[in-house]
Amino acid sequence: MISNKMQEAFNDQIAAELYSANLYLAMSAYLESIDLPGFGHWMRIQYQEEVSHAMKMFDYVIERDGRALVKAYDAPPADWKSALDVFEGALSHEQKVTGLINNLMDIALAEKDHASNIFLQWFVNEQVEEEATAKGVVQQLKMLGDSKAGMFQIDRELGQRVFTPPPTDN
Ligand code: FEO
Repeated sequence: MISNKMQEAFNDQIAAELYSANLYLAMSAYLESIDLPGFGHWMRIQYQEEVSHAMKMFDYVIERDGRALVKAYDAPPADWKSALDVFEGALSHEQKVTGLINNLMDIALAEKDHASNIFLQWFVNEQVEEEATAKGVVQQLKMLGDSKAGMFQIDRELGQRVFTPPPTDN
């Protein structure tokens, strides 16, 4: 059975993942509003990813005979200045989430909770990918500057993104 401390930390993180989902959904709506449907689509997939992160933890708490909770979380912002502003925001948000995941891992280690340690390793790796992906788009957008043709091209590329659910076996 999962300890109270670990359970509480997972329940907080479930809320944080759902906040991330809503943040990216809000970013998606903003990107659609500035006529970048491919960027908007990409953020909508990111929303799905975050919901899947929350659900992976939700299922894990239940599997460990714990009590998963649905907690309140803040509303995300609604407006940004540009696509670059959005992706810089996404990158700094992911850096913050990496800190939260590392904190969860610290609790798992302190509690000698080996199952949670193994479970969280997937999230540690996922954060490396999340930060790298957001950073990659930031760099592309910075290189483009004001090129409309370049924006059109990236919008088409980001519009191809497909949702891949996380593995359910850990
Ligand atoms: Fe659930 Fe983007 O980390």
